[in-house]
Amino acid sequence: MTPEPLSLAKYLASSRAEFALSEMNLYLSQKHEEKDLYTILKPHFYDLSLFCDEKYICHKLINRPLPADESVIRELEDILRTPRLPLQIEKMVESYIGNSCGKDWHTGETARVIRENIVKQKEEYWKGKSQYPKVRMISYLLYHFPVYFCQFQYLLLDLLRCGMLSTRMSFLDVGAGPGTITLSMLDFLDKLHSIYSKKKMDVKMNIRIDSIEKEQENIECYRELTSSFLSKSAPANTNVFLNEPIHAPVETAKTKKDTDFIIFSNILAELRFAPAARADVVERIASSGKNPALIIIEPADLVNSKALRVTQNTLVRKGFNVFSPCTPIWGQGCSCSDCWSFYEPGDIQVPGFMRKIAGNREPYRYINTDMKFSFVILKRDGKTKYSYKAKGKFLRLSNLEKHIGKRINIVASVMSGNLGDEKTFVFKLCDATTSKPCYAVLPAFHMTEKNRLLLKAGYGSIVEIFNTLVRENKEFSSYNLLITRNTTVMPLQ
Ligand SMILES: C[S@@+](CC[C@H](N)C(=O)[O-])C[C@H]1O[C@@H](n2cnc3c(N)ncnc32)[C@H](O)[C@@H]1O
Repeated sequence: MTPEPLSLAKYLASSRAEFALSEMNLYLSQKHEEKDLYTILKPHFYDLSLFCDEKYICHKLINRPLPADESVIRELEDILRTPRLPLQIEKMVESYIGNSCGKDWHTGETARVIRENIVKQKEEYWKGKSQYPKVRMISYLLYHFPVYFCQFQYLLLDLLRCGMLSTRMSFLDVGAGPGTITLSMLDFLDKLHSIYSKKKMDVKMNIRIDSIEKEQENIECYRELTSSFLSKSAPANTNVFLNEPIHAPVETAKTKKDTDFIIFSNILAELRFAPAARADVVERIASSGKNPALIIIEPADLVNSKALRVTQNTLVRKGFNVFSPCTPIWGQGCSCSDCWSFYEPGDIQVPGFMRKIAGNREPYRYINTDMKFSFVILKRDGKTKYSYKAKGKFLRLSNLEKHIGKRINIVASVMSGNLGDEKTFVFKLCDATTSKPCYAVLPAFHMTEKNRLLLKAGYGSIVEIFNTLVRENKEFSSYNLLITRNTTVMPLQ
């Protein structure tokens, strides 16, 4: 490092809104070309909050929420309505597979071994025993990566809507694997910037990305895919500071002090601890930041999904609060350890490489397009996505027992997609007062203008339901709230 240009840049950054790198030569004892100054200072732009453009003019970057007006959100929603791996990423992944396994990876003996690994990996994964020798990384890329990449962008969209994404952000991708989350986030910013540029909005950003990964093979894949992406399609108007992955187990890895977003995507189930003890690992990493948003994502299956809620509740007892998807509607959060709830944004398009490995014999075994995942976003500042608090006119779900067979009014979050079918729509409801499962049940023949908005309520959103009939389902030890033609459903968002 050259201390003189750096200390001068620090001084200029603190005293000017902008300056040209060439100006620095007026004050330096040794002259430098602009491009050399740029190279010297580049690793420090994030910490200095400077954005230096292609003309070597450095602007002081003010950290403010990313513009997210209705038209920007609508365009992003339109793009995400047909979720797919961007062609550029599809090509990169396929070329990584080709370089690792040979150009005929999808035929003959190589394809047989990969297919066998996809099946083994699925089995191991559900048992929480993943292993990552090289061929497993290949099968991961072919089978799991596309869905996990696409699903993360729905959480980013939500964070953008809530004003949580800003012009200067740092991310920590924990258990980064091949770079699923890092790449998904970079691609999301690329999509966002193309919308800004179409709307002639000048939005400059500094993004710092760190990662932790314990497997060397995975780090190599991460490095290759992320650097290849950044060399071809780095998001416009964005300085990306992608640090070398930290090669260590998350249990002991050292991390930076000031991370804004810490993402554990599909890693908790791989830790050798019980769900409650996983919270200690998460807490240790999160305690290095002031008030990071912790994003935990786990598969939607019963075991992993419920385990996530146990970890979540332990973290809440340690001082975190749930930002989303749960809302403490009656003022206090739940402590239910038996909650099975997941988000289902839909199916992605089948990437070309997935179709190739699927072949013609039992292709369904190798096709994975279903986005279905459990997640929680935790904070420590008490902020929640919805600030709604219920008042007296509604019955708490914990009091349903006394009202079986009666018509009541309730307010609750919708905590599932349609669990029924086209004849009978079923949605899980929760108001954080009971651990007994409650469902809104809407038979198609009871659908009216006044209750059909239940179908449009997004995952985690709050609905007021007036005049619903309480039924007990003894077999499943749950309650059904029948939505009839006399019931009104009012979404609050
Ligand atoms: C299922 S992959 C998830 C990869 C990526 N986050 C995603 O969502 O696609 C789990 C990753 O976590 C890593 N991992 C598992 N246990 C870990 C630990 N204790 N410390 C660091 N990384 C770990 C694995 O090596 C693997 O790369």
